[in-house]
Amino acid sequence: MKTKTIFVCQNCGAQSPRWVGKCQSCDSWNSYVEEASVVYPESEKLRTQIISQANHVPVLLKEVQIHQEKRFFTGIGEFDRVIGGGLVPASVTLIGGDPGIGKSTIVLQAGCALSRAGLRVLYVSGEESIKQAKMRADRVAQSANENFFIVNDIDVQLIINHISELKPQVVIIDSIQVVFLSEITSAPGSVSQVRESAAVLTQLSKQRGFVLLMVGHVTKEGMIAGPRVLEHMVDTVLYFEGERYSSYRVLRANKNRFGSTNEIGVFEMATNGLQEVLNPSQIFLSERGQETSGSVVVPILEGTRPFLVEIQSLVARSAFGMVRQKAEGFDQNRLALLAAVLEKRLGLNLADKDIFLNVVGGVKIIDPAADLAVALAVASALLDKPVPADTVILGEVGLGAEVRSVAQLASRINEAEKLGFSRCLLPRNNMKNKMEKPKQIHLVAVSSIREALDKLQTLEVV
Ligand code: TYD
Ligand code: MG
Repeated sequence: MKTKTIFVCQNCGAQSPRWVGKCQSCDSWNSYVEEASVVYPESEKLRTQIISQANHVPVLLKEVQIHQEKRFFTGIGEFDRVIGGGLVPASVTLIGGDPGIGKSTIVLQAGCALSRAGLRVLYVSGEESIKQAKMRADRVAQSANENFFIVNDIDVQLIINHISELKPQVVIIDSIQVVFLSEITSAPGSVSQVRESAAVLTQLSKQRGFVLLMVGHVTKEGMIAGPRVLEHMVDTVLYFEGERYSSYRVLRANKNRFGSTNEIGVFEMATNGLQEVLNPSQIFLSERGQETSGSVVVPILEGTRPFLVEIQSLVARSAFGMVRQKAEGFDQNRLALLAAVLEKRLGLNLADKDIFLNVVGGVKIIDPAADLAVALAVASALLDKPVPADTVILGEVGLGAEVRSVAQLASRINEAEKLGFSRCLLPRNNMKNKMEKPKQIHLVAVSSIREALDKLQTLEVV
């Protein structure tokens, strides 16, 4: 067999006959790697074997029988919810995330739980030895029972053999970057290997009906082959996120054929594995001190679930005439824009000041409803006037310093009320819509940042 080579973008999987510096399809630089371009007779054979056993007679759609699929619950509530209410048989799920974020831990915990529920689980541990996995399983206090099998093989053909023998209902591949098909010449982890291996395993899962969980690494630049090139192939893509040095982890669905992509699951990495965080607001606010200037609480929305986070700002005269603006957990450009609005529209003197902004607890805010809270945190820090500790702030800010309405107001207010806040500053436009008046929380409508500042001045401390 004559081996030709092609160049493959390791980010998105696009191909080119010659090396190019910048990928035409995903705009990433220097991402092309030379790989063998052959039709892989062995993997083709495997695939045709699998396909030929499947039933491919066209049927009338209206006559297709659906028996309500039974779903497998892991019992880890946060995980089950994100996945859309349990794992669907014959479904393929990819769990992506930075190295060290806790992917192996979550799949191990899920696997142990499923095995205790009586399902036969095969865990393919390609990165860690069986002993390491056992140590981890003991540590996370998740005793597995007779149904939990673990194997170290990384050759896909061998994995298929194990699946044929064991007939598991759940197969976990940790990780898809280390497994390989021996007939493909490129290295494990390259686009061809990852794509072909995943395709073979996916087809097998569809045919035999087992749940397939695949772990995949992504780096900050998304440069390692994997999650990106697999997204279209699998049913569900979950991303596991979090700051490396913060113990909180967020599991988010990016694509889900069996549920919503709006749900998130919050976990805390403890010494005994990942623990569910049932009430994120409480944790994110737990270390909040008494009234200090620059501290503001906002009910942000993650998917369908609102939770409260604290935003802190510090404004100081800058040294050497070099102004700095730094934001953690909030878009740096958005902060610059809000600072410019404060300067220009409200005449606050921020031009020679350093502005620091921090979202407590390592949360990343993308919800525009946090704009007003950020603007007021900065203003409060500059003026050295605290925002009352019992008040939450909501609203998107426009370039004219106007406050715009936010989505899903009721659930946000409900969350603030639940945690004992007694006042909420919110966009006036939101008040136009009919809504049930909350019982314990006092609503203060504003239509501009100026008005919000004025209202805050006149609020007496309760
Ligand atoms: P791991 O699941 O190995 O990450 P990944 O598979 O995504 O690379 O988790 C790695 C980190 O989690 C590691 O730094 C140690 C930490 N950890 C705990 O703090 N407690 C635990 O019980 C476990 C199992 C891991
Ligand atoms: Mg791992």
